[in-house]
Amino acid sequence: MDAAIKTSDLTKFYGEVRAIDHLALEVEGGEIFGFLGPNGAGKTTTIRILTGVIKPDLGSASIMSCDILKKPLKAKQVMGDPA
Ligand SMILES: Nc1ncnc2c1ncn2[C@@H]1O[C@H](COP(=O)(O)OP(=O)(O)OP(=O)(O)O)[C@@H](O)[C@H]1O
Ligand SMILES: [Mg+2]
Repeated sequence: MDAAIKTSDLTKFYGEVRAIDHLALEVEGGEIFGFLGPNGAGKTTTIRILTGVIKPDLGSASIMSCDILKKPLKAKQVMGDPA
């Protein structure tokens, strides 16, 4: 089965602050995934990218194999209704 969420080399800068640094993660469908980290680790930034609120500076991400940058509308659709 394809990953429900997949990121590769995901990187985001706010000015000189590197909020995410080449993040690679894979979450399978039905998996319970703990997305934990200290304050400022980049959790909210990652979720903002996955939900299309902001764009990464580098890297790629997909929801149910749907690329969030190439097919942003479809990615949002499958996020809300994976079936
Ligand atoms: N809009 C912004 N402008 C400038 N810097 C930002 C912005 N949002 C986040 N940052 C910085 O990016 C880094 C990652 O922040 P982020 O909010 O993604 O972390 P977080 O893991 O969600 O933290 P927390 O546990 O406190 O919610 C931090 O250094 C933060 O100060
Ligand atoms: Mg946060």
